[in-house]
Amino acid sequence: KRPVGAPDASLARPVTKVGIVGAGLMASQLALLFARRLLVPVVLTDIDDERVAKGLAWVRAEVDKLQAKGRLSADQANRVKSLVTGSTDKSIYAGCDLVLEAVFEEMKVKQQVFAELETIVSDECVLATNTSSLSVTTMASKLAHPERVVGLHFFNPVSVMPLVEVVRAERTDDATLATAFAVAKTLKKNAILVKDAPAFVVNRVLTRFMGEVMRCVDEGTPVEVADKAVLPLGLPMPPFVLLQLVGPAVALHVAETLHEAFPDRFYVSPNLQRLVAANKPGLWSWNEQGQPF
Ligand code: CAA
Repeated sequence: KRPVGAPDASLARPVTKVGIVGAGLMASQLALLFARRLLVPVVLTDIDDERVAKGLAWVRAEVDKLQAKGRLSADQANRVKSLVTGSTDKSIYAGCDLVLEAVFEEMKVKQQVFAELETIVSDECVLATNTSSLSVTTMASKLAHPERVVGLHFFNPVSVMPLVEVVRAERTDDATLATAFAVAKTLKKNAILVKDAPAFVVNRVLTRFMGEVMRCVDEGTPVEVADKAVLPLGLPMPPFVLLQLVGPAVALHVAETLHEAFPDRFYVSPNLQRLVAANKPGLWSWNEQGQPF
């Protein structure tokens, strides 16, 4: 069945080589997913050799785990490993049919990445962004070919979360959108079309909820108490465990973007700001009073 709002699948272009921009946790997870499901070469880059090596090592270690669990045979594991390569040189994106950026959530950085990619890839190559909250239309606005830009927003942990938000920007054309849906289908993800609005749908709702939980903690409720109190509402994991999984810097960025767009509806927690300013990514600790730090 065609997803609501998706164009005719026959408009999709073949994807025979994929690029991922970045080699951090999200980017590495995406590189593995694309290689495993599309079975095409996947190239990734980052700003230095160390980051690239770390990303590739993570992919190889995950493939080993999948093999140990019996999810991949030895042959399949070797094939997936050989499909993922990396470099600091963006010219490796030449020949890609789709490049997905998963770099720092800064509009200027993402625009710069896309502008550089336009000098390397063909005019038809789909340029996708994994942004959690930024405007895909603004990201595409300075490009020669904004019609090939689309949002492909995945969730953490990428291998198990079934949803992907497909974001149609103002000028995204049908072929690009159809390619995005076709790729999501091959990745075995449930793709939904969402409007190019701040934080799209999932993070808009999740951030409002997380904001209220954080406000309770900022007002004195111990973290563990807040976690225990809301878990039975049907959540798959406690909110502060989720915060650690997503990463405080990403969560803060989404909250700030939404606060800017809708100041009366979104809360930016001073404790979260302190945590990020102290540069403690992924580390949510609390003192004897149950307060952060
Ligand atoms: N990383 C990778 N894989 C993980 C994982 C992690 N942190 N945690 C669990 N898994 C895997 C397990 O290995 C297991 O895989 P296999 O079946 O291959 O063995 C699978 O997930 C299920 O694990 P469990 O049965 O142990 O645990 P569970 O049933 O509690 O599910 C969960 C784990 C899927 C993470 C679940 O707790 C959950 O859905 N949590 C909520 C996650 C969420 O809301 N993510 C969205 C965050 S927002 C976001 O990411 C967007 C953004 O832009 C900020």
